[in-house]
Amino acid sequence: MLDGKKVLFSGMQATGNLTLGNYLGALKNWVNLSEEYECFYSVVDLHSITVRQDPSELRQRARKLLALYIAAGLDPEKNCIYYQSHVSGHAELAWILNCFTYMGELNRMTQFKDKAAKHADNINAGLFTYPVLMAADILLYQADVVPVGKDQLQHLEITRDIAQRFNAIYGDVFTIPEPFIGKTGAKIASLQDPSKKMSKSDENANASIYLMDDPDTVIRKFKRAVTDSEAQVRYREEQPGIRNLIDIYCVCTGKSPEDTEKEFDGKGYGEFKLAVGEAVVSVLKPLQSRFAELIKDKSYIDRVIKENGDKANYFAAKTLRKVQKKVGFPERVR
Ligand code: TRP
Repeated sequence: MLDGKKVLFSGMQATGNLTLGNYLGALKNWVNLSEEYECFYSVVDLHSITVRQDPSELRQRARKLLALYIAAGLDPEKNCIYYQSHVSGHAELAWILNCFTYMGELNRMTQFKDKAAKHADNINAGLFTYPVLMAADILLYQADVVPVGKDQLQHLEITRDIAQRFNAIYGDVFTIPEPFIGKTGAKIASLQDPSKKMSKSDENANASIYLMDDPDTVIRKFKRAVTDSEAQVRYREEQPGIRNLIDIYCVCTGKSPEDTEKEFDGKGYGEFKLAVGEAVVSVLKPLQSRFAELIKDKSYIDRVIKENGDKANYFAAKTLRKVQKKVGFPERVR
């Protein structure tokens, strides 16, 4: 609890181009939660180097992601928007928590298995202990809730296990965080294969709408989206492609699936896909223009980075000192 508000922590990696799925499934929800909770939104660059990165590209992407948080509507006066690498407490707490995490637990993480298979030439220890760093992120701020996608639920489970294990030994040190899963409507699938989630690392550029795609590109990608041969706009399990498009249309317009079925009753897929594309364009346009303004304003962004980094450090240090004392590190002489 901070100022009587519950604490929320979440983060995103600045790797790959953010997609409409990241926005509708995560960022947009973050904005809705930002009044109710005391929020920490991190650009998790420590996590990014678990796979090889080009340094200048990582730096640029990280800054863009931070600006995008703001462009999406997160007010940096009210939300702590900062770089993970500017708060050394993340790495320090991660080390301590590493000593309270079992190899067997980490071995069960499905994301590690997937990533190890994908980056077979670089299966480094950081990739293996990635979930411990994530636990440190969350526990450092004593977060009550963590909005995550389904793919991160296992990491949240292990975070809870580590925190409970630590608390059982040392007393109530950490708040046990709860996952916060967004509305099902906001889970966006690939436009080319609706059984997969829309991903920033998809090799097929037509599968994902990127947040910086121009209107023509957006419309073209929707025209090419995979549907089916049923030729009716219905929200049904058997029509995953159309269902996904309806989901997208609904989050962008605020309409319900039933309204959408009625609106496009008897109409063809061509007309529907165009409407979905236009709805998405009308969401992306203001986001893109706010982003363009922000990224030009160097001193403003720098100030946000500095002030919020200091704020994050302040809260992180509080938890870290407590933990260091509990495990038996000597107090600092002042
Ligand atoms: N691992 C998360 C992802 O790739 C990002 C992340 C890092 C995160 N630390 C976090 C998300 C803490 C929530 C809380 O999506």
